[in-house]
Amino acid sequence: MITGAGGLLGGECKFVLGQRYVVFPMRSSDLDITDKTPVEEIIGSLKPDVIINCAAFTRVDDCESKRQEAFRINAIGAENVARSAHKYGALLVHISTDYVFDGNRPPPQPYTEEDVPSPINWYGHTKLKGEAAVEENARRYIILRTGWLYGSGGRNFPKTILRKTLMEPEGQMKVVDDQFGSPTWAHRLAHQVERLMASEAQGLYHATAEGYASWFQFAEEFLRLMGLRHSLSPCTSDKFPTPARRPANSILENKRLKNEGLNIMRHWKEDLVTFVSLNRDHLLAEAKGVSR
Ligand SMILES: NC(=O)c1ccc[n+]([C@@H]2O[C@H](COP(=O)([O-])OP(=O)(O)OC[C@H]3O[C@@H](n4cnc5c(N)ncnc54)[C@H](OP(=O)(O)O)[C@@H]3O)[C@@H](O)[C@H]2O)c1
Repeated sequence: MITGAGGLLGGECKFVLGQRYVVFPMRSSDLDITDKTPVEEIIGSLKPDVIINCAAFTRVDDCESKRQEAFRINAIGAENVARSAHKYGALLVHISTDYVFDGNRPPPQPYTEEDVPSPINWYGHTKLKGEAAVEENARRYIILRTGWLYGSGGRNFPKTILRKTLMEPEGQMKVVDDQFGSPTWAHRLAHQVERLMASEAQGLYHATAEGYASWFQFAEEFLRLMGLRHSLSPCTSDKFPTPARRPANSILENKRLKNEGLNIMRHWKEDLVTFVSLNRDHLLAEAKGVSR
């Protein structure tokens, strides 16, 4: 069973896992994870072997103004799913985030599963509470922290860059160059979820692409692969004030995946090449449709 199946990662998990497993994809309209009783009823009637919780309030800036709603979904929702997973004996794969860390460590030093989280925005705070709720209430669980997700579905950074580039082909676009992370293809992460499900893995894991980039470097590489002329210019975060602060260093090390021989994540540039070669036409058509 996949919660948040209408989102970026949920959609990829539905596609990837659907090739081998019977999948029950739950969009938010099918199941609201903040409603405790329906969560229990649905999990109780489907009795899934595995629940992948991709449901979350992910608009980082909106989390600052919609604090209660974000907490309800990211913390209480996670608790509801964890309690029912425990009650009906399902393995819970709960997706969490690089934003649980403050990012004060100088890049490119990465954060491992052993580092102590200390979120600097409400989104990170609510996601950390969600992790704690899973640890407290689920018996069999995997918490998978990832970051900088992109893919063909949903809203995400390369799609925004593409849309802006097409809207203003001659315009100068400023992109933040002092925040670092590992751009991670949601499709690859869905395969990593599959790998973990089929193993004896339990507990907390980091799972992002290998290597790292700034948002500016990510945007530049993406547009280069798309074969689009552009004029991006790097800027610092203070030129781009946002309601939520972002960690300057979001680089994660997949330490446990590697130690346990489970890491299938690739270098971000390698995955970006594959992503663009598979999706270029679709991305262009979609972005042109949106920009008209
Ligand atoms: N995107 C990233 O860069 C990133 C980075 C680190 C971690 N993550 C984590 O990865 C997971 C998946 O993120 P994503 O990028 O796939 O996000 P997404 O595209 O925003 O998908 C999240 C999904 O959750 C659904 N949802 C929201 N509230 C819900 C509720 N109360 N009950 C059930 N479903 C609900 C949303 O449905 P509606 O659209 O209908 O509201 C949406 O389909 C999340 O846990 C997120 O925190 C993402």
